[in-house]
Amino acid sequence: KILILDFGSQVTQLIARRVREAGVFSEVFPYDVSDEFLRGYGAAGIILSGGPASVTEGDTPRAPAAVFELGVPVLGICYGMQTMAAQLGGRVENGAVREFGYAELRARGHTALLNGINDFVTSEGHGMLKVWMSHGDKVLDMPPGFKLMASTDNCPIAGMADEDRRFYALQFHPEVTHTLQGKAILTRFVHEICGCKSDWNMPDYIAEAVEAIRAQVGKEEVILGLSGGVDSSVAAALIHRAIGDQLTCVFVDHGLLRLNEGKMVMDMFAKNLGVKVIQVDASEQFMGKLAGVTDPEAKRKIIGAEFVEVFQREAGRLTNARWLAQGTIYPDVIESAGKGKKGAHTIKSHHNVGGLPETLNLKLLEPLRELFKDEVRELGVALGLPHDMVYRHPFPGPGLGVRILGEVKREYADLLRRADAIFIEELRNTAIPLPAELAEGREVGYFHKNWYDATSQAFAVFLPVKSVGVMGDGRTYEYVVALRAVQTQDFMTAHWAHLPHDLLGRVSNRIINEVRGINRVVYDISGKPPATIEWE
Ligand code: XMP
Repeated sequence: KILILDFGSQVTQLIARRVREAGVFSEVFPYDVSDEFLRGYGAAGIILSGGPASVTEGDTPRAPAAVFELGVPVLGICYGMQTMAAQLGGRVENGAVREFGYAELRARGHTALLNGINDFVTSEGHGMLKVWMSHGDKVLDMPPGFKLMASTDNCPIAGMADEDRRFYALQFHPEVTHTLQGKAILTRFVHEICGCKSDWNMPDYIAEAVEAIRAQVGKEEVILGLSGGVDSSVAAALIHRAIGDQLTCVFVDHGLLRLNEGKMVMDMFAKNLGVKVIQVDASEQFMGKLAGVTDPEAKRKIIGAEFVEVFQREAGRLTNARWLAQGTIYPDVIESAGKGKKGAHTIKSHHNVGGLPETLNLKLLEPLRELFKDEVRELGVALGLPHDMVYRHPFPGPGLGVRILGEVKREYADLLRRADAIFIEELRNTAIPLPAELAEGREVGYFHKNWYDATSQAFAVFLPVKSVGVMGDGRTYEYVVALRAVQTQDFMTAHWAHLPHDLLGRVSNRIINEVRGINRVVYDISGKPPATIEWE
């Protein structure tokens, strides 16, 4: 396995994902782990990530000394390269200008890392790579024992290596897809330089995870809050595979779910998979508590608190349960370990379901703790969950509660659910034409088959204002629905999706014709920032 030490780059998780895509297990830890931890961990290789600091300033992060003493290969990326240079006796210069974007890089010195990997070869026979750069500082003098591995016009030392000790360093980012050969480089590092085999794959993972769950819970019983979202669904399927009827799921319907969601969850889990699911219709209770409340954060708090209350009440009836299962995934784990990182602000109080374990006195079972989102999806499909469910857009915990502006009413939720379902159905049914290359039989990268796949999140928002319209011979005075569709990698920033006008027109017509009570549909063309994805 490969250990990644995180110096705070935005893209550290991508390193772990690329390594796992090469079939090798890898984990991310903060850069300041102890030497003892490193000696006990058993890494076949270590990767030092990028980061926002400058090694030219005192008191900035350094790798633990043991990294360079264990005798395993080390790869430094960006800041990781600079700290490697500084710690091993080289010199780093505080760059006056930042370099950000594509660069053409020339591989040098026939190193085990880059030899033979290139995008093209010049007439003089130099292997060239298109790489993604994002740095201010650069290495001025290499440490003793290192030779030049790569250079660009702006950055004469863009890569260096001490092949005796198997230390490699790159100024560019191989983990981002902009670096076309990045995956090949990381794969080369973990397979050939670290000697790792491809043994990280789903069937093996399922077998191991099932064994681990059985060993952990023994004959005891487990409860799980099923939301219909990807993570809790996959966790339920996996735990059920391991311990069958020792698992009971509690599915709380707060009245703010999407159209037919309750039925879909019950059909999938209770009927098809034979999972024990207790469905609780708590919509009266939620609507009662939400009456008259208009402030978004207040609504979130109420929904969160009621959820805990209902869940606890149900869990209290299952007197044999000793474990609470949660669909915590690896990015959540890394995030909470890195809490206190500079620059993190709470814009909205997400992740509203908290406080369960302490009050319930249950032990925590988190079988997805090691997995990235795309691995969770792959696992879900391997466990037999339908593709459409596993590849659904994310849905916020407070549900339609934050998509009905201001006060939440059952009448509004019913209208919104129907409008939203029409929008989603049309997105799914609107195919995106095959790229010409593919039609001609040439290979292309991934492409999206329909507009649902091509958007990261899409939904309708209910605006409790009335506007005038005409229908037939009559005047109408009804509510407005806004459509929102965004494209994003990480949900921190997002673009509004340029949906085809035909598609928008069809959705608008259908909503106005089919949902009595709505006579106007608008499309949201705001990016994040400055707007957020949800309207509340
Ligand atoms: P914003 O609106 O902050 O949304 O741009 C970013 C992502 O977070 C989701 N979101 C939530 N998820 N509880 C959740 O579980 C919440 O209270 C909540 N608010 C926003 C939103 O759907 C989007 O994917």
